[in-house]
Amino acid sequence: EVQAILFDLDGVITDTAEYHYLAWKKLARELGIEIDRTFNEQLKGVSRIDSLEKILAYGNRLQDFTREEKEALANKKNELYKKMITNITPADLLPGIKEFLEEVKQANLKTGIASASKNAFRVIDYLQVGDYFDIIVDAAKVEKGKPDPEIFLKGADQLGVDYCTCIGIEDAAAGIKAIKSAGMFAVGIGSRTELKEADIILSSTNELTLETILPAYKNTSA
Ligand code: BG6
Ligand code: MG
Repeated sequence: EVQAILFDLDGVITDTAEYHYLAWKKLARELGIEIDRTFNEQLKGVSRIDSLEKILAYGNRLQDFTREEKEALANKKNELYKKMITNITPADLLPGIKEFLEEVKQANLKTGIASASKNAFRVIDYLQVGDYFDIIVDAAKVEKGKPDPEIFLKGADQLGVDYCTCIGIEDAAAGIKAIKSAGMFAVGIGSRTELKEADIILSSTNELTLETILPAYKNTSA
């Protein structure tokens, strides 16, 4: 029986994935590196510093910066990002998310946020949906980022539920890998090719209902 749902934040609850992309694109361009949306798929779900290193490696500039310089660059991206998200309001919840959160609450399932973002608390605040979540895993306390399962395991531990009773919802390939490595049921939101390792794939958050997910969960755990 399902006991909990662990949500990714960026790209699942709200479209901050787009702001992460725009902020990285701007920073990369200043370094003479052009990134596009195809490359950006590799950055989704990935921590701030790991994202920067992927961009630098992509532009063959990984060796050009010291650790301190990389930290400064990552900070610069975060400042850009924080400016971009100041206008987020409850209207920026992705389609169907509010209804799904209501449904999950009605069904007495536990809920958590398992986001790699250190800005997760801030974004949840802007969206005014804090009351829907029993826990938010603190990304600053997670050692190994997605695709490592650590953040999902921590989420389940904080909720006090068995890993196999959890459903994880993700828009990123690294996130789906993390959920599967945690021994959980994975719901992918987005592209069939990017998220092929998910147990079920929905093309939009609008399709998130317990009616679609629970039977699929029961099939795989039977
Ligand atoms: C993830 C995003 O949720 O959080 C990534 O998908 C982002 O794009 C990562 O890099 C870390 O976020 P932050 O806000 O701590 O830089
Ligand atoms: Mg995401």
